[in-house]
Amino acid sequence: MAQEVTIEEHVQHIDDELARLILTVAGMSVDIRNEFPHRLMGIAGTNKYGEVVAELDAWVNDYICKKLAATGLVRKIYSEELVQPMLVKEDAPFVVAMDPLDGSSNIVTNNPFGTIIGIYRKDLPVSGDNLAASLYKLYGPITTLVYDAGKGVHEFVKHRKGHAKYCLLNENMRVPSEGGVFGLGGEPLDWTPEFLGFAKSLVKVHGLKLRYCGAFVGDFSQILHKGGFFAYPSSVKSPKGKLRLFYEAQPMAKIFEDAGGATWSGSESLLQTKCDDVNVRTPLYFGSKELVELLKGVKTVAHKDGE
Ligand code: AHG
Ligand code: MN
Ligand code: MN
Repeated sequence: MAQEVTIEEHVQHIDDELARLILTVAGMSVDIRNEFPHRLMGIAGTNKYGEVVAELDAWVNDYICKKLAATGLVRKIYSEELVQPMLVKEDAPFVVAMDPLDGSSNIVTNNPFGTIIGIYRKDLPVSGDNLAASLYKLYGPITTLVYDAGKGVHEFVKHRKGHAKYCLLNENMRVPSEGGVFGLGGEPLDWTPEFLGFAKSLVKVHGLKLRYCGAFVGDFSQILHKGGFFAYPSSVKSPKGKLRLFYEAQPMAKIFEDAGGATWSGSESLLQTKCDDVNVRTPLYFGSKELVELLKGVKTVAHKDGE
C-alpha cells in the first residue's frame, strides 16, 4: 500500500502560520468526537439569534476558541455561538469566522454534522475572496477534514488503519461537471414558482437524485464528491434564505469554487458578496458550472407578500 501522507506532511507546502492553525483544528477531533455520546440531548439555551443551542454547540464553541487562542496566531474569533467576537491577541495574523457545530440538530438522530472555519488576514468588511484559507470537518461514519489554503482542495480521513492522524484521502479535488445529486432546503411551496420549476428540472432534465441530510457540511460533501446541486434558497417567508454569509456560505464557497464548482447568491458569486454584518443571511446556491449558469436565468429571489 502506498505510504500514507499525513496532514502534518501535506501542509508543509503552505504558509507556516496557516499550517499551524490548520493542524490545531485537525488536532481537536478526538476530544470533540469523544464528547458526543454524553452531550447528545442537552440544551444549553438559545443563541444571539434566539435559536436553540445544543449543549454540544456551546461546548465545541468554547473548546475551539480556547485551542485557537492558545496558538497565539489569532487576533479575533467570530462565532455563530458568540454574541460578540472574542478579542484574543492584537498583533496576531489571523481573524477566524466559525460555525463551531453545523447541523447540530442532527446529533440526536445520529446524522452527519460538522464544523466550518474561515481564516482571514483582515478584519471585516470582507468578501469570500479575502479568505486566506477555509476548512471544514465532517463527523459522519468517518471523520474527515477538507482544507483549502489557496493551493487546491484536499481531504483527509482520521484514524485510517494504524494511524491516529489525518491521512490524505483526496488531493486537488474537482467537482464533477456532470451528474450527481441534489439537496434543497426550506419549503418548496415557499420558493418562487420559477425556482420550483428549476428544481423539477434537476430530476426531469438532469437526472439528479435527491440527497438531503439536513446539515450543510454533509450536503456540501455530497456534491463536492459526486457533483450536482445544493441550495438553501430565497423563500417568501425568508427572502434571504437561512444560511449565514460569514459563518457558512463564504468559507464553503471558497472550497467549492476552488474545486471547480460555481456558487450564486441570487445576484453574484458568494465569493463576491461584501460582508460587514456577521449575522446576515444569504440565499445560497452551489452547483456545477453548467447548472449555476442555467440558474442565473431563473427568478430565485422571493419577496414577502406585498413587498
Ligand atoms: P446550524 O446547526 O449551524 O444552525 O446549521 C443548520 C443549517 C445547515 O446546516 C443546514 O443546511 C440547515 O440548517 C438545515 O435547515 P433545515 O432544518 O431547515 O432543513
Ligand atoms: Mn450551520
Ligand atoms: Mn451551528
